[in-house]
Amino acid sequence: MSKFIASPANSLSGNLKVPGDKSISHRSIMLGSLSNGITKVSGFLEGEDALSTLKAFQAMGVKIEREGDNVTIHGVGINGLKKPEKALDLGNSGTSIRLMSGILAAQAFDCELVGDESLSKRPMGRVIDPLTTMGAVIESNDGKPPLKITGGQNLKGIQYDLPVASAQVKSCVLLAGLYANGDTCVTEPAPTRDHTERMLKGLGYDVRVNDNQMCLTGGGELTATQIQVPSDISSSAFFMVAAAISPKADITLLGVNINPTRTGVIDILKLMGANLTLANEREIGGELLADIRIQSSKLKGIDIPQELVPLAIDEFPAVFIAASCAQGETILTGARELRVKESDRIQVMADGLDILGIENEVLEDGIKIQGGQFKQPTAIIESHHDHRISMSFAVASLRCDYPIEINGVDNVMTSFPNFVELANSAGMDIVEI
Ligand code: S3P
Repeated sequence: MSKFIASPANSLSGNLKVPGDKSISHRSIMLGSLSNGITKVSGFLEGEDALSTLKAFQAMGVKIEREGDNVTIHGVGINGLKKPEKALDLGNSGTSIRLMSGILAAQAFDCELVGDESLSKRPMGRVIDPLTTMGAVIESNDGKPPLKITGGQNLKGIQYDLPVASAQVKSCVLLAGLYANGDTCVTEPAPTRDHTERMLKGLGYDVRVNDNQMCLTGGGELTATQIQVPSDISSSAFFMVAAAISPKADITLLGVNINPTRTGVIDILKLMGANLTLANEREIGGELLADIRIQSSKLKGIDIPQELVPLAIDEFPAVFIAASCAQGETILTGARELRVKESDRIQVMADGLDILGIENEVLEDGIKIQGGQFKQPTAIIESHHDHRISMSFAVASLRCDYPIEINGVDNVMTSFPNFVELANSAGMDIVEI
């Protein structure tokens, strides 16, 4: 089990290119595999989560070649997957298991989806329920992985109102809908990331989006194309917060995905007073990109607007560090989903903030954080093997007087394999041991 020793540093600078977007990387493998023809992907995230998806599709007979972040997928067509020889191990990746269960529920063969300790505790009822209504047969361990899927079912299209704002559930149902008889429609209670809809359209599939409803008709085909994966705004968020809280900082994050369903963190940091500007906005392959410049900022606490919660769902651990360095109180509510991510991100962050002497109050669906000074001659933080918790506390070290130790940082590899290298190149001081 590895740990970070993150030491204080007070100046950050440079033009940084963070790795490819995790959500788009997963979808490029899934949809490229189901397409007719060869899909070439550039900027693919070489993190363990996206690689779990890649290996799973290889295990189902898809030829996929990878040279660094360039991936070539020899698509087998919508009905070309083969039965894997053993259970598909999806590691730590919630996106892999939830999206793939939609695809696999519709195949002619049986299969089993398994994951690591953290994934084995995460709720899957949210995908099992709508898939079962569509006619799928899935056994689970009391609503948790492993999932045993019995193939050979004829799925029927449904109209599904999402009970939680979840892009994974929306995507799962739409992917099953590719194989279902008739129309499949999903209605979401609040906007969630729409990469599945965008990529399906890019591969020539007709997805009808009307306000908060997405519909498609089963039985179509996907046509291979080139996919350029932009930098991940979730990984970029650590550097946005790092620069905002650092006494002397001026950094630019290059080519970051600013899909409007992902930019909650930009809006939240701006409301907190962050010195953040976007430049060079452009569209590549149906996704929006920009270069984001962030300089040292005087942050103030805010009441986080509800509508921004699903749009920043993965960025809250980093936002909590910004709130700890802000003047006044920050209040987050309506974020119960944070309790069922790779860890219970409300409790695990609160425990770490307690150790750093930051006053906070845990709410059932959020947290109140009183900005202050980190006080910690010998702080040891437990990340609970959650990548985003590890990186958030590494960023906090910028405002500490002593080094802090962060335990269980191995899963940083799932989303941001070169985090330490990039952070140190910008002026941070992190050692992994
Ligand atoms: C993701 C959706 C989100 C997010 C996860 C990636 C996706 O999960 O937290 O990291 O790629 O669709 P939920 O759908 O559970 O909110």
